[in-house]
Amino acid sequence: MSLSDFSDATKVIKTTTKPDPATGALNPPIQLSSTFEQKDLDHFGKYDYTRSGNPTRDVLEDSIAELEHGTRGFAFATGMAAISTAFLTLHQGDHVIVTSDVYGGTFRLVTELLPNYGIEYDFVDCNDPAALEAAFKSNTKVVYIETPANPTLKVTDIRQVVEIAHKHDALVFADNTFMTPIFQKPLDLGVDLVLHSGTKFLAGHSDILAGLIVTKTKELGDAVYFIQNAMGATLGISDCWLLLRGIKTLVFGSRPKPAMR
Ligand SMILES: Cc1ncc(COP(=O)(O)O)c(C=O)c1O
Repeated sequence: MSLSDFSDATKVIKTTTKPDPATGALNPPIQLSSTFEQKDLDHFGKYDYTRSGNPTRDVLEDSIAELEHGTRGFAFATGMAAISTAFLTLHQGDHVIVTSDVYGGTFRLVTELLPNYGIEYDFVDCNDPAALEAAFKSNTKVVYIETPANPTLKVTDIRQVVEIAHKHDALVFADNTFMTPIFQKPLDLGVDLVLHSGTKFLAGHSDILAGLIVTKTKELGDAVYFIQNAMGATLGISDCWLLLRGIKTLVFGSRPKPAMR
């Protein structure tokens, strides 16, 4: 039997349940330690400092990577911290195309902060293939979409955007906050990097802020990890545990309720 034979609810539980290697506990211990003992001066163990890696955060990051069918997952203090990290994979002189319907915080980041770092942008209706084609420049590195968008709920044709962007050697980043991996897996449609405000449906209880990234390739994952560790906007460990718990029951909150008998 493979994972694809199970219902979505069971798949989510199986994916997020990674028994603690030390005790077999089905729920990961909340490892509230900034620092980990090193047995050897020259060779660090798997963990040395929680900004760089933590066993509880690993369970969350591995879980979201599996749920999104990606290579590597990353947890951040907020959705905006995740989005900022994604944009920081760009460099001075690069150009990004951003879909015209985008969350206000993302709009603010793109218009008010990116220019300070020499990153150019254009907002384009990414559902208009001619407009999208016309927006590419020789320095366009990323097309950034959010579908459905907040607050207009405008839906973007992910496959069409991917086809056009990849033809121009640009990556596609997609904010999947509203659909969650239960209803939409952008990486399966060719997207290169998926983002979430985990604050919303994934956490599901309106009690924490959180952000997530999942990358398709190891190379992009390495670039995101470098920025996550260098900038340090990681998700607190107690909140990693709460987010993981929220994800476990995501399907039950997402399905229409059966009629009462
Ligand atoms: C689609 C979308 N992306 C990103 C964000 C930002 O997430 P956060 O509030 O966790 O920083 C939001 C917040 O409303 C959102 O709706």
